Amino acid sequence: MEYPRITKSALEDFSVKPNLQDYQKIYENFSWDKLAQELDWFDSEHINIAHVAIDAHLKTDRKNKKAMIWEGKKGDVEEYTFSDLSQLSNKFANVLVNKLGIQKGDRVFFFLERIPEIYIGILGALKAGGVIGPLFSAFGPDAARDRLEDSEAKVLVTSPALKKKIEDVIPELPALENIVMVQRGKEISDSNDLSYEELMAEASESFDIVKTHKEDYAIMHYTSGTTGKPKGAVHVHEAVLGHYATGKYVLDLQKEDIYWCTADPGWVTGTSYGMFGPWSNGATQAIYEGGFSAKRWYKFIEQRKITIWYTAPTAIRMLMKTGDQLPGAYNFDSLRTLYSVGEPLNPEAVVWGETIFGKAFHDNWWQTETGSIMIANYPIQDIKPGSMGRPFPGITAGIIDDSFNEMASGEEGNLALRPGWPSMFRTYWKKEEMYQSRFQNGWYITGDRAKRDNEGYFWFVGRTDDVINTAGHLVGPFEVESVLIEHPAVAEAGVIGKPDPIAMEVVKAFVSLKVGYEPTDELQLDIQKFAMKRLASAAAPREIEFVDSLPKTRSGKIMRRLLKAKELGLPLGDTSTLEDD
Ligand code: PRX
Repeated sequence: MEYPRITKSALEDFSVKPNLQDYQKIYENFSWDKLAQELDWFDSEHINIAHVAIDAHLKTDRKNKKAMIWEGKKGDVEEYTFSDLSQLSNKFANVLVNKLGIQKGDRVFFFLERIPEIYIGILGALKAGGVIGPLFSAFGPDAARDRLEDSEAKVLVTSPALKKKIEDVIPELPALENIVMVQRGKEISDSNDLSYEELMAEASESFDIVKTHKEDYAIMHYTSGTTGKPKGAVHVHEAVLGHYATGKYVLDLQKEDIYWCTADPGWVTGTSYGMFGPWSNGATQAIYEGGFSAKRWYKFIEQRKITIWYTAPTAIRMLMKTGDQLPGAYNFDSLRTLYSVGEPLNPEAVVWGETIFGKAFHDNWWQTETGSIMIANYPIQDIKPGSMGRPFPGITAGIIDDSFNEMASGEEGNLALRPGWPSMFRTYWKKEEMYQSRFQNGWYITGDRAKRDNEGYFWFVGRTDDVINTAGHLVGPFEVESVLIEHPAVAEAGVIGKPDPIAMEVVKAFVSLKVGYEPTDELQLDIQKFAMKRLASAAAPREIEFVDSLPKTRSGKIMRRLLKAKELGLPLGDTSTLEDD
């Protein structure tokens, strides 16, 4: 079933009027330098994200304010004040530095469920001067290995259940010196592994935060491209200025807010806006450990009295699918503003939010590489349903043609940004050339296509590459193809994104078989299971179609565009002249 569509007249009647501060003034007076003065720097050059997010509040009346209210899948609740998070992250920083020998710049990776220890651990590692890398807990062994191998992580913080998933690839990681296991009552099976709980029990609560330079590396998030393995986008400590500024002016986070971001800390939204944005603004964060459940989510908003909610289009469409009766049983009066990111937010979803919650979803746009929100519908400005909004003050966005000329309003072109904002990625880890290639003629080329209307609102059109966006997660077709061809029956594989009414796209694979294998339903299932085990569940093909052969360029590259055209029933055109690309 598709989500319900709304009538054209409902869309025409829709309007959200300005209701907060005057954003025009912010635009006029905006300066990164002035905003930087609102953060607690060590000196003009040195800043540490964890200090700004947590310890800076200890000098204020927010010291004993709740920073994190965590609710487990089973309904158990844990609460942490800013002071608690400060002490616990100090302890973990001591563990890393004094027990495990972590030095500034060393990579500390996290493969954990959405439990308090991932937040404490990340804060501790940043205090220690480490470069943190969170891995999504749904990753399989291949996905985890690629990232741990490339980053040469020295420490991995994980749990008994998740370690079991990736056990086989640990011997392939020579740089990995220590594995810290968050036990939460579970057994450790390998005596070489360290217990988080035991290490923390012995560690001191006081720690001198490493006075990192604003340009020191702090965060790595792996992101997928069309070719090759995922690449690590690297962010620096100064990025917190971007998290803070957008948290303040886009999400409108205030000290009294109880804020809920549904993103997992394994992805950039889960760190920029699931940790640093809200905490640097002194807001209380509510975190729900579990995944999607309409009932649990509605109850969570009601019980925790959420004021600001940041979520994603697929989740909103899934809520829409469960109907308009269910939300009637809950009270959403606490909600002030709702936000959405990660995929195009269809106008129906914006209007549906207004009907159900009395508040509309504010769509905004950014990327792993940009580190913070770049284009947004602000709480003070009218929302144009279906539009991503307008550039954040301090950000210049343009629509350019392939020769880098700016295009007129209404014309579709490449979405590009003028480089130089605080949370911009500083490199792709060990892939500097690829990083440089993203900057051309004074623009950062985003890889998205969009249009700008004559009021300066941006409208998403699509991507310029073959990367698949499924439920807000980017999936590189090459990664999926590489795993598929490891299956004994598979000769060749070509992977595309197939349009889907809920998840926007789902992964579809076209597979040709080796001689001697028959295209049966069982084999299809077996290949699907094989991919699911190695990649994350979202990256495993939802559909597999057996074909005799795959369309290729003269040099043998699979032409995914043709597979996609075939899937969509579009004319294939004259393929005889297609050059390699
Ligand atoms: O294609 C755009 C899409 O998601 C991409 C960025 O994904 P990722 O690097 O995983 O960043 C996640 C943090 C947001 C973009 O290049 N995207 C993101 N937001 C929107 C969007 N597409 C349409 N509308 C959006 N609001």
